[in-house]
Amino acid sequence: MKKNILVIFLVFFTTINLAYSAEKNKLLLKYKSTTSINNKASLQRGAKYYVNYCSGCHSLKYMRMSTLAEDLDIDEAIFSKNLLFNNKKIGETMTISMNEKDAIEWFNAVPPDLSLTARSKGADYIYSKLNTYYEDDLTATGYNNIALPNTSMPNVLANLQGEQKVIVDSNNYPIELEKISNGSLSDVEYNQLTNDITNFLVYVSEPAKLKRYSIGFWVLMFIFIFTIISYFTKKEFWKDVK
Ligand code: HEC
Repeated sequence: MKKNILVIFLVFFTTINLAYSAEKNKLLLKYKSTTSINNKASLQRGAKYYVNYCSGCHSLKYMRMSTLAEDLDIDEAIFSKNLLFNNKKIGETMTISMNEKDAIEWFNAVPPDLSLTARSKGADYIYSKLNTYYEDDLTATGYNNIALPNTSMPNVLANLQGEQKVIVDSNNYPIELEKISNGSLSDVEYNQLTNDITNFLVYVSEPAKLKRYSIGFWVLMFIFIFTIISYFTKKEFWKDVK
């Protein structure tokens, strides 16, 4: 009997919990990325945007620049000229030299390494983080964020996206973000830019996947051709038996 009561309690609380998180994520459901690591052009753009807009604060400590150049078909000379991370050598990983103490003083938090974020928190989380900044006078940065509420990361892409404000329901619950001023990019361009950055971080979180995909293709081709050969071999052998 005691056990039953415990089960009823557990079911009750998980249901409440699930209902709550579903509610919490309703607005976030609108922000879905469409990433494909086979889209090299998108990865190249994403890498460029990342180096321009994110690398000042966020390291990618597992990513070696030479691997990146090779995987994304970027010529090493061009890479060294345009994408080199904090003046490092191309054989090095993408760490940064920001001091943790400074970071805490400037942002109240240490910008986390983003090498594995796409795997641990999902592509949509990154995409929605970059898309759901809104004005909020109560925060230190002047902005708040739906994906990571009260984030201490500044709204670094504000001049590209423009400004948004939040619309809340009667329970003070965010239901919509509304554009209040335009940035230098159109909505479509901004969505693509943030999608490219997300795509790039998805690739970074598992660079070997690119190779696995291309190896996978040849393995399947081999099996396919081998099946045909074995079929005809079998036919040939059985001809004599009959
Ligand atoms: C000025 C420094 C700065 C820049 C530039 C910056 N960030 Fe951040 N970012 C931060 C800080 C600080 C945090 C920690 C925020 C927190 O915990 O509230 C953060 C957190 C994040 C997180 C959440 C990580 C997690 O584990 O939850 C993501 C994702 C992120 N940043 C992506 C980006 C991307 C993509 C760019 C480039 C478009 C970028 N950031 C540019 C400072 C920065």
